[in-house]
Amino acid sequence: MKGVVLAGGTGSRLFPLTKITNKHLLPIYDRPMIYYPIQTLVDAGIEDILIVTGGRNSGDFLRLLANGKEFGLKHINYTYQEGEGGIADALNLAEHFADGQKICVVLGDNIIERDIREAADRFRQQPRGAHILLKEVHDAERFGVAEVAGDRIVGIEEKPQAPKSNYAVTGIYMYDATVFDKIKTLVPSGRGELEITDVNNAYIREGTMSFSHLDGWWTDAGTFESLLRAANLAAQSKQWKPAVPVLQPGAGRSAQI
Ligand code: DAU
Repeated sequence: MKGVVLAGGTGSRLFPLTKITNKHLLPIYDRPMIYYPIQTLVDAGIEDILIVTGGRNSGDFLRLLANGKEFGLKHINYTYQEGEGGIADALNLAEHFADGQKICVVLGDNIIERDIREAADRFRQQPRGAHILLKEVHDAERFGVAEVAGDRIVGIEEKPQAPKSNYAVTGIYMYDATVFDKIKTLVPSGRGELEITDVNNAYIREGTMSFSHLDGWWTDAGTFESLLRAANLAAQSKQWKPAVPVLQPGAGRSAQI
């Protein structure tokens, strides 16, 4: 299974922090935000990773991450999203990279305490379809919300005013190669974006969506409140790994775009 980190968009909810840099380069405690979703993929045993960036500061990702040596990677792939057409629009750019394989997608502002290894291993065995991770929250109206009946998801609503459950859909998604066919059928939502929730609902209608519950804490970091919460959680986490060694200037700077 290959990995995709989505780090496009404008980060307008964090303005003026995002006036001169990309949201995913902002610090979460002792490291840039984008380190967390990359580590999530690496911890799930994924070594072939694509970063989808956007905006005016996309070159900074290459300067920061280079070929991913700090994560034990030999190589990182990069691509560029023009505009901010939504999460599914950004994911559509991964079709060539995926090359028919399963993918694990992590939103660039999603930070988790533990790892998703078990869910990833289970999805590697799943013959087809998709797998998402849910987390019980007290502010479900901020997220995609899953309606669960027994061991299956009946549907997902994006930021509902009256959530049908407390189960937020986290920004960690596993898909088979048909995800790109599904994206091509989407139409922009009321906020003018191709919604990942519409992709997930297509899998639910098809009867091929499985799910599990995410262990440990989870947060996004796209608002001032959640950015602060993410930093505090990262700092307090007992299981937190020591900061990665600083890369020597000039070392391993030959990533391909
Ligand atoms: O955090 C989980 C939530 O993420 C889910 O529960 C929702 O269902 C899902 O729609 C999403 O909600 P947000 O409205 O919070 O997503 P946001 O617009 O903040 O984008 C999250 C990340 O996705 C962002 O950090 C980078 C990437 N992205 C987003 C957009 C709109 C892109 O790469 N390109 C884009 O055009």
